[in-house]
Amino acid sequence: MNSQPLLEVRNLSRHFGAVKALENCSMAVHPGEVVALAGDNGAGKTTMIKALSGVYAPTSGDILIEGNPVKFSSPQEARALGVETIYQDLALADNLTIGANIFLGREPMKKVFGFLPMLDRKRMANAAAETMAKLDFHVKRLDAPVSNFSGGQRQAVAIGRAVYWNAKILIMDEPTAALGVPEQRKVISLIKSLKAQGRGVVFISHNLQDIFAVADRIVVLRRGIVAGERMIADTTHDEVVRLMIGG
Ligand SMILES: Nc1ncnc2c1ncn2[C@@H]1O[C@H](COP(=O)(O)OP(=O)(O)O)[C@@H](O)[C@H]1O
Ligand SMILES: [Mg+2]
Repeated sequence: MNSQPLLEVRNLSRHFGAVKALENCSMAVHPGEVVALAGDNGAGKTTMIKALSGVYAPTSGDILIEGNPVKFSSPQEARALGVETIYQDLALADNLTIGANIFLGREPMKKVFGFLPMLDRKRMANAAAETMAKLDFHVKRLDAPVSNFSGGQRQAVAIGRAVYWNAKILIMDEPTAALGVPEQRKVISLIKSLKAQGRGVVFISHNLQDIFAVADRIVVLRRGIVAGERMIADTTHDEVVRLMIGG
């Protein structure tokens, strides 16, 4: 691939005492590319996304965004540079609307009578409508608390929040794991629309079917090292499983 990667990891290691959770791992994500991160339990997947999202500082190695080396000392710093991570628990406020969740912690204010600051609910509602339309995701009641929504719809809200704040790179931890089959399909199509918008996506999954449905490339971790990397078009389920378990 000849475009400059949106995100690049070079020889990244992260140790916890004697445990080498990641050792000399390299990977890259290009614009409009979906990269699956796979591996057995304990392979280092969560450690990798925590390093990418500013939760863990690397022991050694580099992270580059659009060619520039970065050092995140918090998830806020990663987010400010366009890296949004969507964890399995989604971190939504259940009692609030989609709009309020999009703006959680960054609420827009307006002035009434020229001075009195008030929450700009209209702006939040408009942002919710526009963002969900951009993702081609339709819920009947945009003004309902998100606790009323299904797992797939909640995943869409979390993705919508990242899109609204213009994330260039979305990192998703098992985005389809807790969902039924129809909703898994919807989340897969959401990931495809992120790709069509030129964003980069890293997603962790145990589900090879999902990986083969949406990923362009797969990076397989095994006991802290990159056991292999393949273009999805050039590999098979069997080969991926062999890379995961070794031998
Ligand atoms: N905070 C931590 N302290 C000590 N060891 C850890 C910590 N986080 C992960 N590990 C170890 O690092 C290895 C990789 O873990 P992890 O990244 O969670 O793997 P995965 O997400 O692929 O299951 C495991 O051996 C795990 O026990
Ligand atoms: Mg994990």
